[in-house]
Amino acid sequence: MHLLAEAFIAELPHYYRGKVRDNYDLADGRRIIIASDRLSAFDRNLAVIPDKGRVLTQTARYWFEKTADICPNHVLSYPDPNVVIGKRLDILPVEIVVRAYLAGSTGTSLLTLYKKGARHLYGLHLPDGLRDNEILPHPVITPTSKAFDGGHDEPLSPSDILESKLLTAAQWETVSAYALALFARGQALAAERGLILVDTKYEFGVDEAGTIILADEIHTPDSSRYWIAGSYPARFEQGQRPESFDKDFVRAWVSERCDPYHDEIPPIPADLIEATAGVYRHAFESITGMPLAPISPDTDILERIRSNLAAYFP
Ligand SMILES: Nc1ncnc2c1ncn2[C@@H]1O[C@H](COP(=O)(O)OP(=O)(O)OP(=O)(O)O)[C@@H](O)[C@H]1O
Ligand SMILES: [Mg+2]
Repeated sequence: MHLLAEAFIAELPHYYRGKVRDNYDLADGRRIIIASDRLSAFDRNLAVIPDKGRVLTQTARYWFEKTADICPNHVLSYPDPNVVIGKRLDILPVEIVVRAYLAGSTGTSLLTLYKKGARHLYGLHLPDGLRDNEILPHPVITPTSKAFDGGHDEPLSPSDILESKLLTAAQWETVSAYALALFARGQALAAERGLILVDTKYEFGVDEAGTIILADEIHTPDSSRYWIAGSYPARFEQGQRPESFDKDFVRAWVSERCDPYHDEIPPIPADLIEATAGVYRHAFESITGMPLAPISPDTDILERIRSNLAAYFP
């Protein structure tokens, strides 16, 4: 089976291993970002999912191209299906999350906080009586601190961001406007494909001139929640969870069997891995309307990447 568990390439300089991406910073200011097939949750690597890295890179590529008129992005080239070469930026310490619905299950999700009784959060005021997965009056930005090196994100309000000088007022205004415009484009194109873009996370960085540039990934299944538009109204009315690209069954399977933060993760059955791969492939095709190119099962992905990146070896 073709898999990319990690993309360590000894010839490339300044290696940084993210949860999902293996990164290299070249001396000329470019960053090589290789999306692996790692599935990360509970601060660890749960499994390796065939095609996941390629799907992430190609989904982000679709969206970078569809939004290039809205704001500058880091993309310089795509030398391999799993790889983007970007302009290396100083990533701003705030993740710009945009949400259009009262949804989510993590500690920083609007729904989680709302259910605990919070009505004033992220500098917003939410009315009483909203229901699970209900549409908000308009999309809102719920920024979180970017936890570098695997730390945990914390909710922030705009005044927290300015008072603790995480961003200047001008930077906050720019990233807010960019994020809402990117999200509106995402929602409009998703709607044409029968999807709802529910929420997403953007990372922005600044270049040496101080210009704010969209970095990392955009509107991928890892950074975004999508629902199926057709079934949403009836399911919402009946209080059922909206249909989505559900990748959470591996998480659920693991957390039913152990303490996922501390115990050894039991081996995940092959059919769960293959089902997850199917969800990612299907997500790519649904979101972009394009077929995912077939790939031979005996492809050595790391070898292919090495040869596609050989020109970048110092
Ligand atoms: N153009 C860019 N310049 C510099 N850094 C970037 C750029 N685009 C993305 N990054 C950073 O590269 C890393 C990508 O790796 P990955 O997405 O696996 O990391 P992560 O585990 O999500 O995040 P982190 O390691 O920051 O906690 C992230 O740290 C991201 O912020
Ligand atoms: Mg990331």
